[in-house]
Amino acid sequence: MKIGVIMGGTSSEREVSLQTGQEMIRHLDRNRYEVIPMVIDQRADLIAQVQQAGIELALLALHGQYGEDGTVQGTLETLGIPYTGSGILASSLCMNKQMSKMLLKAAGVHTPAGLCWQGMDDYDPQAVGQLGYPVIVKPNMGGSSIGIQLVHHEQEMLPAVQEACSLDQTILVEPYIKGTELTCSIVDGEVLPMIGIRSAHSEWFDYQAKYEAGGAEEKVIQLPPVIEQRVREVALASYRLLQCKVYARVDMILCQDVPYVLEVNTLPGMTANSLLPKSAAAAGMTFTQLLDRIIASSLH
Ligand code: DAL
Ligand code: MG
Repeated sequence: MKIGVIMGGTSSEREVSLQTGQEMIRHLDRNRYEVIPMVIDQRADLIAQVQQAGIELALLALHGQYGEDGTVQGTLETLGIPYTGSGILASSLCMNKQMSKMLLKAAGVHTPAGLCWQGMDDYDPQAVGQLGYPVIVKPNMGGSSIGIQLVHHEQEMLPAVQEACSLDQTILVEPYIKGTELTCSIVDGEVLPMIGIRSAHSEWFDYQAKYEAGGAEEKVIQLPPVIEQRVREVALASYRLLQCKVYARVDMILCQDVPYVLEVNTLPGMTANSLLPKSAAAAGMTFTQLLDRIIASSLH
């Protein structure tokens, strides 16, 4: 089968995507697949390359906007090319933290409360004060923690908001929930072993902690069985509610035994430092087997 590994893209996560793509290329089983690396810079590139190569499946190694947000999925559907992972709706819902949080909340899933505004004009320091510091400032449709900041004091707020606004028109501000950061990978409806995260140099799981060697301690977390079951159920319920397919990674904070869902990633990182391959390894699945499973499930 001829597989195009689609990577690069135009989002702030381009570099991460290139790493995900390289790692996928390294591990794809050459006895089963003919692998065509495809670095794209814009939508026109994607269409031209896909049509020229005549691939039978697009293995998506893209992250962030125009890649993980439903647009590429829609383009590939228009072209009649099967692709890996979730469809258009789940992709765009999960990329939009504000929208996915609204749905999660309505379904009774805990997610940090928060404020949301459009651009600097909407910024309301008083409302943030009422929420209470410290807060986390996020671009609504970002990824890999790019543009996210932990703000302890009102004086630090303006530059953080300006930074987030430079990446996205819509900004989220959430109370900082102090607890255990953990992540739950789901492949084909199966919840893999959960990984607990302890950042080495920061109070939260920032870009450096995510991608630099030694940036964080990430290992399978041991929780009391009742709590573990609760976390798994919440992760799976979130995945289903947002209509995810094939695979995703649900990021959470566990605080006083309550799992708060931060977000669901429909094309989670698969770099050498990423969490999904670690969860898969803990379940006895090699990277190659993980890719086989993602591909088979996507074609199903
Ligand atoms: N957005 C990055 C790639 C992740 O969730 O792993
Ligand atoms: Mg994300």
